[in-house]
Amino acid sequence: MSGLVIAIDGPAASGKGTLARRLAERFGLRHLDTGLLYRATACVLLDEGLPLNDVEAATAAARGLSLVDFDEARLRSREMGEAASVVAAIPPVRAALVDLQRRFAACEKGAVLDGRDIGTVICPNARVKIYVTASPETRAQRRALELTARGEKTDYQSVLADVKKRDERDGSRSVAPLKPAADAIVLDTSDLDIEEAFRVAVEIVERAKR
Ligand code: DC
Repeated sequence: MSGLVIAIDGPAASGKGTLARRLAERFGLRHLDTGLLYRATACVLLDEGLPLNDVEAATAAARGLSLVDFDEARLRSREMGEAASVVAAIPPVRAALVDLQRRFAACEKGAVLDGRDIGTVICPNARVKIYVTASPETRAQRRALELTARGEKTDYQSVLADVKKRDERDGSRSVAPLKPAADAIVLDTSDLDIEEAFRVAVEIVERAKR
């Protein structure tokens, strides 16, 4: 049997990143946060003073990407999340990042990848697919706390507006829009804390391994 590939998808601030990281630790797998690829692509354009909708420059940036060149804290900023959502809607940018993600998933032991289209496009044959979601209000609350803890100035209402805008953009683009794969298990974390959500996710993986 091939390696254990775990695809974790879901909207912004759903908790999918934390779950993916903890599942990777638990099952001894490598983890790729694919949002960082789009964030890094956007970062190149911003640093070069180019518009985020410059298709050629964005595609070239995605093709030449090496994540070691970037400061992770900067990539994880709110500004970069917004910018990433814009470049991620450009079809050739997505195409340029497919191989890198599939190579990562092809590791012999398997891997955990989290993003928006892992279960639908990147790893349609993943053994485990979890679609992590939560209400926009819950996600905005979590994101506001996280940003404040990192020292970014935020207020709940503007974070909520960001979350809704990103849901709309990520869910309505023509290529690989955000949606659960037909065979994904939906994990709504609105009423769960991270420990409870992790327990449910581990159970889903254990069941799939049997
Ligand atoms: O997961 P994140 O917040 O780091 O993602 C930032 C943006 O990148 C998100 O709004 C949409 C895009 N993205 C995507 O389109 N496909 C992925 N697999 C991961 C992220």
